[in-house]
Amino acid sequence: MLQRKDLLGIKDLTTDEMSLILDTAAAMREVMRREIKKVPTLRGRVVLPLFYEPSTRTRVSFELAAKHLSADTVGVSAGASSVVKGEGLLDTARTIAALGADVVVLRHPAAGAAEFLSRYTRASVINAGDGMHEHPTQALLDIYTIRDYKGTVEGVTVAVIGDIMHSRVARSNIWGLRKMGARVRVCGPATLLPAGLDSMEVEVFRHVEEAVAGADVVYALRLQRERFRQGLIPSINEYARLYGINQERLQLAHPEAIVMHPGPLNRGVEISAAVADSPQAVIADQVANGVAVRMACLYLLMRRDDDDQTYH
Ligand code: NCD
Repeated sequence: MLQRKDLLGIKDLTTDEMSLILDTAAAMREVMRREIKKVPTLRGRVVLPLFYEPSTRTRVSFELAAKHLSADTVGVSAGASSVVKGEGLLDTARTIAALGADVVVLRHPAAGAAEFLSRYTRASVINAGDGMHEHPTQALLDIYTIRDYKGTVEGVTVAVIGDIMHSRVARSNIWGLRKMGARVRVCGPATLLPAGLDSMEVEVFRHVEEAVAGADVVYALRLQRERFRQGLIPSINEYARLYGINQERLQLAHPEAIVMHPGPLNRGVEISAAVADSPQAVIADQVANGVAVRMACLYLLMRRDDDDQTYH
């Protein structure tokens, strides 16, 4: 079982904890293949997804994960404009307690929001994306998908292409993939590469062709324009021309390479429609695996409660 109250980031997870989540997710994937996708494991538990930023996949998959485990779940969405910080989140913590939530799934535009909330609530907090910081369940579902296709993560070469700077998906994936022994390459416009990549043990490439050459996994990222300052890229067309994953570039990768994307896709920008629809693209599997990984996370955090009788 996970010996922690919250799942806030990949950076502080051990490889054993990651393996435990991945193995539990494999068992959850079996439940999802059944005709009746429901087990009574979390009956009577309350899962509260709180989304202060737009989301389709992450939110729906957390809600489905909770329902498959028989937990009660009611999603709360704040308008995209309601950036709530500090005091706002403290009030949220009081609401959570009043509603009797056991797990809160928080997406928030501010880095550190999930960590902040976790200090003021007895409920388990799962970070579903905090600003440009972390998105741990996305990295776990990506690593699950890579392991599923490649048999292992160790020694696999993953090329992450695009807006690394604003991407919590990139950050969590780089930390997670490195811990699991993958080789990570990154490539994007210099203005979209964060400082400190050296300490993240990745190889930085100037040209996308070199980054993709021989790679086992090509991971395309959306331009996070909602987090952009002006002038970071000359134009969307130029970005697509220089960094977009198209069939020509994909042919440089390993012949059995898979193409991944966290969604939402901007076809014709970071990925061409032909690549997104090609048999090498495993984007739908990522989404399906996301439900299983989130079931595993909910289960492992809740079971910890059962073992700890002083809790609640
Ligand atoms: C990502 C996110 O919100 O960080 N989406 C997701 O969770 N699947 C990536 C993105 O928005 O580009």
